[in-house]
Amino acid sequence: MPQHSLEYDDRALSGHIDEKEREAYREPLAEAERLLVEKRGAGNDYLGWLELPTRQPADLLNEVVRTASHLREKADTMVCIGIGGSYLGTRAAVELLGPSFDDLRSPKILFAGHHLNSDYLSDLLKVLENREVTLNVISKSGTTTEPGVAFRVLRQWMEQRYGTEEAAARIVATTDPDKGALRNLARQEGYATLPIPPDIGGRFSVLTAVGLFPMAFAGINIEDLLSGAAEAAKQCTGAELEANPAARYAVNRNILFRRGLVIEVMATFQPHLHYLGEWWKQLAGESEGKQLTGLFPTVLDYTTDLHSVGQWMQEGLRNVFETLLVLSSTRKSLSVPAFSDNEDGLNYLAGKSLEEINNQACNGTLLAHLDGGVPVSTIRLADRTERSLGHFFYFFEKAIALSGYLLRVNPFNQPGVEAYKKNMFALLGKPGFEERFDELNRKMKGMGL
Ligand code: PA5
Repeated sequence: MPQHSLEYDDRALSGHIDEKEREAYREPLAEAERLLVEKRGAGNDYLGWLELPTRQPADLLNEVVRTASHLREKADTMVCIGIGGSYLGTRAAVELLGPSFDDLRSPKILFAGHHLNSDYLSDLLKVLENREVTLNVISKSGTTTEPGVAFRVLRQWMEQRYGTEEAAARIVATTDPDKGALRNLARQEGYATLPIPPDIGGRFSVLTAVGLFPMAFAGINIEDLLSGAAEAAKQCTGAELEANPAARYAVNRNILFRRGLVIEVMATFQPHLHYLGEWWKQLAGESEGKQLTGLFPTVLDYTTDLHSVGQWMQEGLRNVFETLLVLSSTRKSLSVPAFSDNEDGLNYLAGKSLEEINNQACNGTLLAHLDGGVPVSTIRLADRTERSLGHFFYFFEKAIALSGYLLRVNPFNQPGVEAYKKNMFALLGKPGFEERFDELNRKMKGMGL
């Protein structure tokens, strides 16, 4: 039985990193931990997430649960409208904790506002026709284009279907407590609102109402989730590499990165873990990729991708290391049936559970990738429970914050995200972007576009 809901096992890195290298990180790590705890580092006005597991704002949980139960009385489906940190945590939770197929989920959480696509939204509206619907529109800034556009389409649909008053009673806006376009709209239309604390950025917001409210609607136990996060907060504290697994993971990835291994693959070994990987990818990529540095995080799903980019992982360019993400237990256990004909030659597996086979696929992959020159470590999540998920969220928030400070970047901003937005605004004719429009037009003509 594992001691914690999440365990970081880096024994297989022994051929790649020796203790002396980790020793050299003791002081920088201690400084990174001090910067976080004493709130003296870059982005120190965005550290509200550090205390969330133990210090939730008074009454927020009650409000979240009350609003969710009230809406469940009239709706069987929630559409979560948001992008980046405003939706990935909830998606990870629903995929990890719920049944494998949408058809088996009740109530249902569906997602919108994370891209710009008419076919997707049209199909979504079709699905909603036969369901009782509530919307949770989530945007801290209140001005993000993708969720803004999706909300317009869905709001119009809701108002046509339910009438303005009932539609408003079925819409909850999660946004800045005081300011922003969504806050103003919610005031004007009388939507219920939930706050996103000003001192918590999007990708660190999963344990605020951003994640807690839609999760509560989905029937996820948010108290257990927070107690898992509290377990991680307790475990992942201090600058002792032996005691703090988040710090050890942060140091290991920095050592490998400085050696030119700039890509970190999180390889999941169960399908329910895919969106945990996606959540981590956003957290790591947006926190660290700046000032011409930062690891490139990417997610692969095994064994599926072993039949795809598995070839590259085994024999491609050696600028990559791998963090395996595995579950120590599944909820069900199916075994391989025996057949007397044994035409497929698989009788040697008869009686073995799929997990026994998957475990050996995992061990086999770890050994093969080590042989192929890829450093591999493993994150083991105990099970598909709220507690394990809460531990996972906080573990990586802490690890990536430390890792960002070790890289000497501000892990809590995302200045680079603005570049595409400014161009898109100019090209779409947003007032105030006229000069840029002319400049971009000239560039595009120069390229023959
Ligand atoms: O981590 C972040 O800050 C971003 O990924 C945001 O969550 C994302 O851009 C959505 O922003 P907003 O909630 O303001 O719409």
